[in-house]
Amino acid sequence: MGTRQHAVTPREDFPRLYSAAQVAALVDSLSHRAEFPYELTYLGDGSEMWREGEEQSDPAAAPRLGELDTIITRHAGQLLSLAPASTAVEIVDLGPGTTRPIRGLIRHLLDADRLAGYRAMDISAEILELARQNLRADFPGHAEGFGLGQGDFTGPDLARVLTAGRISGHGGADPVRFVVLAGATVYNFADPAEVLRHVRSAMSDRDVLLLTLRIDTGVDRPPFMDEVSVGGPYKPQQLAGLDLIGVDRSWYVTETGFDRERSEVFVRARFLEPVAVTFDVGPDRRTVSFEPGDTVLVWRYLYHDSAAVADLLTRCGLRVRLFEHGQDKQIVLVAAAPDR
Ligand SMILES: C[S@@+](CC[C@H](N)C(=O)[O-])C[C@H]1O[C@@H](n2cnc3c(N)ncnc32)[C@H](O)[C@@H]1O
Repeated sequence: MGTRQHAVTPREDFPRLYSAAQVAALVDSLSHRAEFPYELTYLGDGSEMWREGEEQSDPAAAPRLGELDTIITRHAGQLLSLAPASTAVEIVDLGPGTTRPIRGLIRHLLDADRLAGYRAMDISAEILELARQNLRADFPGHAEGFGLGQGDFTGPDLARVLTAGRISGHGGADPVRFVVLAGATVYNFADPAEVLRHVRSAMSDRDVLLLTLRIDTGVDRPPFMDEVSVGGPYKPQQLAGLDLIGVDRSWYVTETGFDRERSEVFVRARFLEPVAVTFDVGPDRRTVSFEPGDTVLVWRYLYHDSAAVADLLTRCGLRVRLFEHGQDKQIVLVAAAPDR
């Protein structure tokens, strides 16, 4: 006899966190692609997990995470040299998270009297609040003038932060903009090239795109690249979306692995028990069902080597101007400019 189906609805905070369009996109993604879009896990409780990450900032405990947070600061001088001498720099931070990786660059620009402004766009109101608090604490005299807005930088919202009125720079010269996609955010999307092209199309020819990524150096490859690992490793954030829609963690196992064709590391849930989740989508009700053995992808990460990173940028109309490895060679900072 089969196990009885668990019929659930999302938790009560769900309708408050997600717009009607996001609920519809989520239901489509679950039904047609068997994927929980990772960007939607940053809303609500998901942001708390990032806050905890900020508080447990012990680099010895998580050396790689530490380097993703520090690599921009360590190369701040080199980055500044990408802007013409004495030109001011405006930072546009796409998906700022806790702002930890960017605060060193803000400090460097302030000390050099070259900061023209800081703007950020994030999909999560909770993350933006966290970003605001951290910026106020570190830059009490300046943070009030920073512009933080909620929006999805993969769609039309990007224009609000990137094609919005330019700040005029010191001595009248237009500032150079550093458009930042830090923390490997862009490699979590199903189609990073589409997102990069979208960002590129909103950039002016003088802007510089900054990316921080974890890349494949051919060494220290995680064991799950050879064989799917059942039960981990995964981060709590990666299951936050399924928690939110009412799927109990005992109804599935996690699998961490590598999709060779797509060059992607992934975490997915494989159902052990039948589950049906019913969503209110506007006036309609839609149910997504999972049978034992079905999977839902909850996290993906494009795992590229350095040549593939440069190639992807070139295909998206960007030319690499700086490519720096951290002490951990897998962590890199890339600066790229529109290829005119
Ligand atoms: C991996 S975190 C990186 C945070 C930060 N840049 C860092 O390096 O620590 C991704 C951030 O991007 C935001 N984000 C993800 N997808 C987004 C989207 N489509 N539009 C706006 N923000 C997004 C998330 O809410 C989160 O703050």
